[in-house]
Amino acid sequence: MTTLATTRPSLYRDIHKAIRAMMNALVDRASRCDFTDTSAVAALREETVRTFVLLESHAEHEDRHVAPIVEQHAPELAHRLGGEHEAQTERMVRLLSMLDRRASDAAGRGHAFVVALTRFFAEMQVDMADEEERAMPVLWAALDDAAVLAIEHAIVTSIAPTEMMQWMRWFLPALPARDRDAMLEGMKQGAPPEAFAATLQLAREVLPESEVRALEKLAA
Ligand SMILES: [Fe+2]
Repeated sequence: MTTLATTRPSLYRDIHKAIRAMMNALVDRASRCDFTDTSAVAALREETVRTFVLLESHAEHEDRHVAPIVEQHAPELAHRLGGEHEAQTERMVRLLSMLDRRASDAAGRGHAFVVALTRFFAEMQVDMADEEERAMPVLWAALDDAAVLAIEHAIVTSIAPTEMMQWMRWFLPALPARDRDAMLEGMKQGAPPEAFAATLQLAREVLPESEVRALEKLAA
């Protein structure tokens, strides 16, 4: 069976890199939050909702486009991964309710949220590793590269432009420059010019200065 050390296209590799970066950013932000400051908590809640909406969307894409194929070839694994997605939804609701509670010990309650968030993300990361190490080899055995890329295309084209820009904020700095440039080159060929221009502008904002310069040849 094909292992992760392959050059075959993966449905999980890049999106999971973006998700890990997004999770780490939220944990950092929550860790720095002064939970006695209601406006800081409100801002953290907004960022938490934005993150959870993207996580929910990611799980839906996998359930709709990927799970049925895993189900055909490894039903137990598909069942377990699907169950984990359902549990994630419930846990996100519970985590948000922790931010909504008014408590006299705001700092202590806030830290309880930070710890619960890190446990949730740590367990999600194990599930994501299972997807890459267990589900992807099942898909590689069942599908050729063209079929894998067709699923990726179906997922990407199902995402609305506003949501895509939110993903790009995490994708762009999460990938090696080589992979990022290939993705942007593909966008330049296939996406509407205004979508490509907006992505390039976002890249200038979120990438380190040393990597921005290399983008200018794509802009030309
Ligand atoms: Fe995933």
